[in-house]
Amino acid sequence: MKTILVTGGAGYIGSHTLIELDKAGYRPVVVDNLINSSIESIKRVEQITGRQIPFYKLDLRDAAALECVMEKYNFYACIHFAGLKAVGESVQKPLEYYNNNMTSTFVLLEQLKKHNCKNIIFSSSATVYGIPEEVPITEELPKGQCTNPYGKTKSMLEEVLIDLQNADKEWNVVLLRYFNPIGAHPSGDIGENPNGIPNNLMPYITQVAVGKREKLGIFGNDYDTPDGTGVRDYIHVVDLARGHVAALSAMERNCGLAIYNLGTGCGYSVLDVVKTFEKVNGIAVPYTIMPRRAGDIAACYSNPQKAKVELGWSAEFGLEEMCRDSWNWQKKNPEGYNTGE
Ligand code: NAD
Ligand code: UFG
Repeated sequence: MKTILVTGGAGYIGSHTLIELDKAGYRPVVVDNLINSSIESIKRVEQITGRQIPFYKLDLRDAAALECVMEKYNFYACIHFAGLKAVGESVQKPLEYYNNNMTSTFVLLEQLKKHNCKNIIFSSSATVYGIPEEVPITEELPKGQCTNPYGKTKSMLEEVLIDLQNADKEWNVVLLRYFNPIGAHPSGDIGENPNGIPNNLMPYITQVAVGKREKLGIFGNDYDTPDGTGVRDYIHVVDLARGHVAALSAMERNCGLAIYNLGTGCGYSVLDVVKTFEKVNGIAVPYTIMPRRAGDIAACYSNPQKAKVELGWSAEFGLEEMCRDSWNWQKKNPEGYNTGE
């Protein structure tokens, strides 16, 4: 049984990936400092899988603490989710973002190298394409100018990993560029648990639906899109999690450097999402049109063919399932992981 180091495994995407790793016969070990997550997510994953998940609370920048974990296990690969991810906050706190995301990755890479674990999957983002030259976006499109420190850390870390693999061909590096993950595990026991006012569309919608917020603000209806609202490639988080398992199998074939978009290839507008959510869940989502949000682009969706052909992976769930599962999670957990215990 191969043991996988999962950094940031208590977070939204990480926790869902733990379940898929377990199903596929891998043994995940989690390190996370819980800065944006709760240990409760790991407990819930343990309930769902019926298996204990080794968990270490540590900051990746603490090399000595990480080294203790590295010495305990013989890791086959690392899936590196850990990082800060709020676009707006990164503009306010650039040093915190650069320090956390860059330094933690440097420390991690040194440790992986020292302990001869040279397989890494990195959580990148469609944000590295900047304002895309065209849609749908293929991996061959040049990267663009990121407008915020968060996006810049993703783009720079991609370059760091590419240089590392170039210098030492023993490394297998898979860069996964996620589009817009939403949804939750169908059990409704784990899901996205944002702190404070959500920045992203789906958690905002579910908080309006559950009565925590009055109405959704739609950021602009004058974009050059079919209904004027922004178009994105929403992907169910369980599909995204499975993409990581598929990427691990590429490592077994010594893939070297590989870059994949993880999206569905379908673009949906903000109004499409609101209407589908209302229809599937039978709940009204009041909204108001607001000015455009700084830094937003009109349309961003993937061409997911490369992952399909090379990894045999493609998304299975549609927008209806994404809306259903997001609501199921929110409804069962109106306060997220804050169970009040
Ligand atoms: P998340 O915040 O839920 O999970 C990230 C986890 O990393 C958290 O549990 C946090 O506590 C942990 N962490 C942060 N800094 C750490 C450090 N220095 N040491 C140890 N742990 C640390 O985010 P997520 O949505 O699950 O995203 C996972 C990864 O995917 C991130 O790298 C994110 O940037 C990337 N990504 C996310 C999206 C998205 O929309 N959710 C889109 C593209 C890329
Ligand atoms: N939107 C609203 N109202 C809201 C929130 C969002 O109208 O309250 C709109 C946005 O304007 C956009 C769409 O909904 O048109 C999606 O917005 P999100 O904030 O959910 O997602 P983004 O596409 O802006 O950004 C996400 C992640 C980034 C990542 C990017 C590309 O948050 O981290 O996808 O992968 F970089």
